[in-house]
Amino acid sequence: MQLQLEELIVKAKQEIGQCSNLSELANLKAQYVGKKSELNNLFGKLKDIPAEERPAFGQAVNRARNKLEELIDGRETELRNSIWNQTKQGLDLTMPGTAYPRGGLHPLTKVMREIEDVFIGMGFAIAEGFDIEDEFHNFDALNTPKDHPSRNLADTFYLKDGNLLRTQTSTVQVRTMEKYPPPIRIISPGRCYRNDKPDASHSPVFHQVEGLVVDEGVTMADMKDTLHRFAKSIFGNDVQVRLRPHFFPFTEPSVEMDMSCSVCGGKGCRVCKQSGWLELCGAGMVDPNVFDILKIDSERYTGYAFGFGIDRITMMKYNIPDLRILYDNDLRVLRQFS
Ligand code: DAH
Repeated sequence: MQLQLEELIVKAKQEIGQCSNLSELANLKAQYVGKKSELNNLFGKLKDIPAEERPAFGQAVNRARNKLEELIDGRETELRNSIWNQTKQGLDLTMPGTAYPRGGLHPLTKVMREIEDVFIGMGFAIAEGFDIEDEFHNFDALNTPKDHPSRNLADTFYLKDGNLLRTQTSTVQVRTMEKYPPPIRIISPGRCYRNDKPDASHSPVFHQVEGLVVDEGVTMADMKDTLHRFAKSIFGNDVQVRLRPHFFPFTEPSVEMDMSCSVCGGKGCRVCKQSGWLELCGAGMVDPNVFDILKIDSERYTGYAFGFGIDRITMMKYNIPDLRILYDNDLRVLRQFS
């Protein structure tokens, strides 16, 4: 018995001494002192041994186990020390570090966030809608006649199930008024889709920001003030704005707002086609028909809405001559913004 234990220790000593890595050592540990080890097996035999020999037998097995654990722990310390020393030798603190390339935000994302910050600073909340919409939210509830040309297949992408890809973020006006009572002050940035051939100023996917304010006593002067403050925040304090009459089905009266050309400051240049003005957004007072469809009391409440293209603003802000540049993902362009 004693001999058997001694042999076991000799064998273990040799194997543990030769063991060269920690996972191998973990296997040896299981083999020699684990639950299924030979040693544990011997404990099981305790009951077959005459009672008077049991204490001595037990002690011998325990001693062997302590010895084995000591060998394993000792080797583990040696292995860890050697790993530590190797890494230290390989580490040259004077070497230059590895430079990892840093990404940056896409210019559209940057401008979108900047626009959000400006409106949040004026007390607006951010509302979100869906890229896939139905005709009710994209057209009907926005007072758009059934025969309006924008509903045409040539303009709008329809899906097989009868839904469509929204052509404007004005859908979020509808979703907001369905869900919340006035007072409402939201903007909603997002993607829009139109069946347009890509060229310098068109893309089948583009970005808009919609704005909506509904409360008692809201006037067109409030609208002009908000939009002027917005233009100044993005393009600088000297920016002038003007309103031109226009038509949108969901606002009455409707306007387009121009701002003084951000390139020439209003003197006239190639970008503004010598006019000194650049179109900034569409806007107007919410048409009472829209309020009626959405069960908002049009006698009590008035509101204004506006919508502008983030792509256009990004192009004006960074002097980008062609819209497609924003969608090509050419790293040489994107790097200039990171
Ligand atoms: N949805 C319009 C468009 O895509 C933009 C717009 C104009 C939105 C006037 C408005 C608005 O909310 O009042 O051309």
